[in-house]
Amino acid sequence: MSCKKKIFITTPIYYVNGDAHIGHAYTTIIADTLARHSRLIGEDTFFLTGTDEHGQKIENSAKANNMDTQKYVDAISVKFKNLWDEFDISYDKFIRTTDDEHKLAVQKAFLKMYEKGDIYKDTYEGNYCISCESFWTKIQLIDEEGCPDCGKPTSIVKEESYFFRLSNYQDKILKWYKDNPKAILPQSKANEMINFVKGGLEDLSISRTSFSWGVKLPDSMNEPKHVMYVWLDALMNYASACGYGLDGKDSKMDFFPPYVQVIGKDISRFHTIFWPAFLMSLDLPLPKHIGIHGWWTKDGAKMSKSVGNVVDPKEIADTYGIDEFRYFLLREVPFGSDGDFSHKALISRINSDLANDLGNLLNRLMGMSEKYFNSHISSNKVSDYYKEQIHQSNKFLENAKECLYNLQLNRFLENIWGILDIANKTITADEPWVLIKSEKEEDKQRVMALLVLLANLLNRCNLMLECVMPHKIKTASKCLGVDIDTKNYKNTIENLELIEEFTITKIDSLFPKVDKEIIEQLDKKAENEQANKKQELANEGVITIDEFFATKLKVGTIIEAKEVPKSSKLLIVQIKQQDNEKEPTRQVVAGIKEYYKRDDLIGKQVCFVANLKPAKLMGHVSNGMILCAKDKDGLSIISPDRPTQDGSIVR
Ligand code: ME8
Ligand code: MG
Repeated sequence: MSCKKKIFITTPIYYVNGDAHIGHAYTTIIADTLARHSRLIGEDTFFLTGTDEHGQKIENSAKANNMDTQKYVDAISVKFKNLWDEFDISYDKFIRTTDDEHKLAVQKAFLKMYEKGDIYKDTYEGNYCISCESFWTKIQLIDEEGCPDCGKPTSIVKEESYFFRLSNYQDKILKWYKDNPKAILPQSKANEMINFVKGGLEDLSISRTSFSWGVKLPDSMNEPKHVMYVWLDALMNYASACGYGLDGKDSKMDFFPPYVQVIGKDISRFHTIFWPAFLMSLDLPLPKHIGIHGWWTKDGAKMSKSVGNVVDPKEIADTYGIDEFRYFLLREVPFGSDGDFSHKALISRINSDLANDLGNLLNRLMGMSEKYFNSHISSNKVSDYYKEQIHQSNKFLENAKECLYNLQLNRFLENIWGILDIANKTITADEPWVLIKSEKEEDKQRVMALLVLLANLLNRCNLMLECVMPHKIKTASKCLGVDIDTKNYKNTIENLELIEEFTITKIDSLFPKVDKEIIEQLDKKAENEQANKKQELANEGVITIDEFFATKLKVGTIIEAKEVPKSSKLLIVQIKQQDNEKEPTRQVVAGIKEYYKRDDLIGKQVCFVANLKPAKLMGHVSNGMILCAKDKDGLSIISPDRPTQDGSIVR
């Protein structure tokens, strides 16, 4: 009789418009950890990852690289796959949205929704962020054009489109959240989504006509100009990978719905609103858990190629080891929170948590077993001598499991470290190097029991840590002479049994400490890279479009100008900026008094920097800067060449 559960675990499918970075590695490593744990405890596990290859963004990227689109996506998709292979990610299937089976499945889904009456034709008019492949309404935009998710300028779209009746699903989605309090983890993210849905859902445009790189609508729709909206296409990967729409051939639909879907917070709306609505429309079951993690930054800033601060996961894994990198990612930040990547933090985790707490414990066990007992240790008195330690470690195990199932991965690891701490403290307290010199047989027995306790505690930790550091733990378990497998897991973790006898095998130090030299080298390298990049850009005199858009420029009308007492240069100017009730005027202190008379300024339209950090000039707050050109005759204010509405964006 088989009573294995079917466990389906997914990562997002990554866009093929650039190389993988630490954020992609983070998501994939979390999902891999869950998949490995699931296999170890004996569940039938299906772990899916892949690449998202359609849409306007990819089409544009291919064009920018002067490549045929299919060739371009082939080239980048394989890079992701190779990276995951190098990282030994244990995926069972790597899906590509350009796979034929996937395209068929998306078309089937479209038809089913259409037949159900959930799809209708209309015209889409609004804004679109190509970078996020996301539609936005006017009120959602920042300063009337910025994407509320990524901040980049959106483009205005007006095109014929099919719509999905998302608005019909608002109540059903809210009910799903309510009935399944753990559907979205962590809770803080669930709350955000609940509020978003309560704010109201509009129908969703699900086909595009202004470009062609996408899945075509089903032939029976007879709409050759339309391609699927890339998020409908992409989200359906989780079903098509299981064989949805394939009429039972090679079906893995018995794995459906996903048990855990790991995603970053940037794509939570798509996964917690659109995706469940699509599934409801298709009469498919909904995912059990959607785990939303936070964002990795570098030195507090968003990683971007132009800034030159992208953390390359391959380089990190090559320098420190893949298992060390995995441990760091999961341990360093609470699941759901943002984290800042630094070599220093990573090195400190390796040197203290891994080398000291875990590696050194193993070293001490090896050393003492060999020296005192010729590497063979055996005792049936562990629970007599160490009742309290066992009891405490059972508690840590219980907590660790619970944290793991709630995706609180850092707390899961903290609890495992609680067990290591018990082991290390017991050595210090018992002083086996003193006891072993005693003449009494009982003292010797006690040392033996201590070493058997340590081996048992390490075995427990190994079983829980295998999913996080599969390679290192394999070696560690060799040292204990115990296999890390489902049987050991059942006996040790579920039934809390103790092993009475171990033959310890010597292994090389599991986690060598990272040298100071590497640290210094890295610091230098990073400094140089940043400096070079800056120099390069400075030499060329160019900035990126993102850097340019970081400066918000607006048009406004000067409605008042006052002198600053005792200042020969400054005027306090009030600029009417827009019909913004919160801030109808801006106060700017400008150094233009030598060149402009007060009265000539009133009514003049100017361009000003609207997102400058406020400063105080001679005691007056200045909230912006007026743009001027300077030549031999002095300053000249830059004005629009026709009356322009106040508040308009300059770009
Ligand atoms: O959004 N920190 O693909 P994508 C943490 N194709 N995680 C990060 C990160 C960072 N700085 N940067 C990226 C897409 N990620 C769509 C998904 S799914 C049906 C379609 C991770 O290549 C995180 O998991 O932009 C995020 O959700 C994902 O990469 C986005 O990858
Ligand atoms: Mg993205």
